[in-house]
Amino acid sequence: MPLKLFDHKQIILGVTGGIAAYKAAMVCSRLVQAGAMVEVVMTESAQRFITPLTFQALTHRPVRTDLFDLSGDNIPHIALADKADLLLIAPATANTIAKLAHGLADNLLLAIALATPAPILLAPAMETDMWQHPITQANVERLRQLVKQINIIGPATGRLASGGTGAGRMVEPEEIIGLAGTILARHGDLAGWDIVVTAGGTREAIDPVRFISNHSSGKMGYAIATAARDRGAKVTLITTAALPDPFGLKIIKVNSAEQMKEAVLVATRQADVLIMAAAVADFRPQVVAEQKIKKQSHTESLALNLIRNPDILAEVAKQKADGHGPRMTIGFAAETEELLANAQLKLANKKLDLIVANDVTATDAGFGVDTNRVTLLAADGSIEELPLMSKQAVAEAILDKL
Ligand code: C5P
Repeated sequence: MPLKLFDHKQIILGVTGGIAAYKAAMVCSRLVQAGAMVEVVMTESAQRFITPLTFQALTHRPVRTDLFDLSGDNIPHIALADKADLLLIAPATANTIAKLAHGLADNLLLAIALATPAPILLAPAMETDMWQHPITQANVERLRQLVKQINIIGPATGRLASGGTGAGRMVEPEEIIGLAGTILARHGDLAGWDIVVTAGGTREAIDPVRFISNHSSGKMGYAIATAARDRGAKVTLITTAALPDPFGLKIIKVNSAEQMKEAVLVATRQADVLIMAAAVADFRPQVVAEQKIKKQSHTESLALNLIRNPDILAEVAKQKADGHGPRMTIGFAAETEELLANAQLKLANKKLDLIVANDVTATDAGFGVDTNRVTLLAADGSIEELPLMSKQAVAEAILDKL
């Protein structure tokens, strides 16, 4: 499945001559599956371990091996270096690390590494003695000191090609892809933004074992939070949902609207954006029974008295009026009738910059499902009706508005 993070990203995969070169094929395949445009550049010795054909089959593109091949772009190393979003060298041998550390450029990969402004990720792989050699260690240190865009992952400790065990294994492809993603995100269009997202339906306690809630699954909020993370934002997710914790987010678990309000007011004091995707209960039981409420044989009904919950967006607007709070607030309007009119009213009353209106009576949109059909109404009067799409795609559309 294409991931937004890698989608259409230009990644140069440099493969150098170590036995771990066979694992570079897995890295390559994963990147292609994630939607990246992968250009593979191999050193001469890499081609002794694995053929260019393997990478060509995986990427559907010619593999570059020659600094002096002028068949395509005019100056291949400059053209490749300029358009890259990331240069990933996996495996990186002691020889390539040494040459990089000293600015040698006697093959295409090294020339690209010297010429590119893109972030570079090295995944060293070699025998333990080579890795621990003071020269290799000094070279790695030199790269860290002098090349600000360099990132080094590993090597891991484990079984080595020689049969021995020690430091020097290339880290596993999944981990390399994970860090590559994090590096790309740092350069995303929301890099430097501080975004607070709420998700899920609040739970309003009736007694120690029961609560009032709604059908919100939290999926929309989680989709927004992870999409914002992948575009480089620092994200705080304030959630009631029992979904798996996504990596790389600050996650604050809450239950009630009151708890969510407290968490939102603290988190948004310095934030750029608040996105209130949570379905906050408008009412809560006035009294929370201390013990589980028992049914009594002679009573046929039970009355619960409900009182109004705070409107979190209204509280945020107040805090904003005092000079603290997010630059932008985005709300959701889940409606069962008069969708646009109700959303317009909420946009104005809650002093929002954008409201995401969705008709929750549709079976393929709204609560619980993976798709949504929404209309975006902005404070400037613009209205954008989006077709049925995945919640991920809706999340991207909302973030595009930022
Ligand atoms: O007024 P309504 O509840 O329909 O508005 C929905 C929007 O307001 C959502 O963004 C929701 O998260 C937010 N909300 C809130 N505090 C409440 C109720 C809703 O911030 N008490």
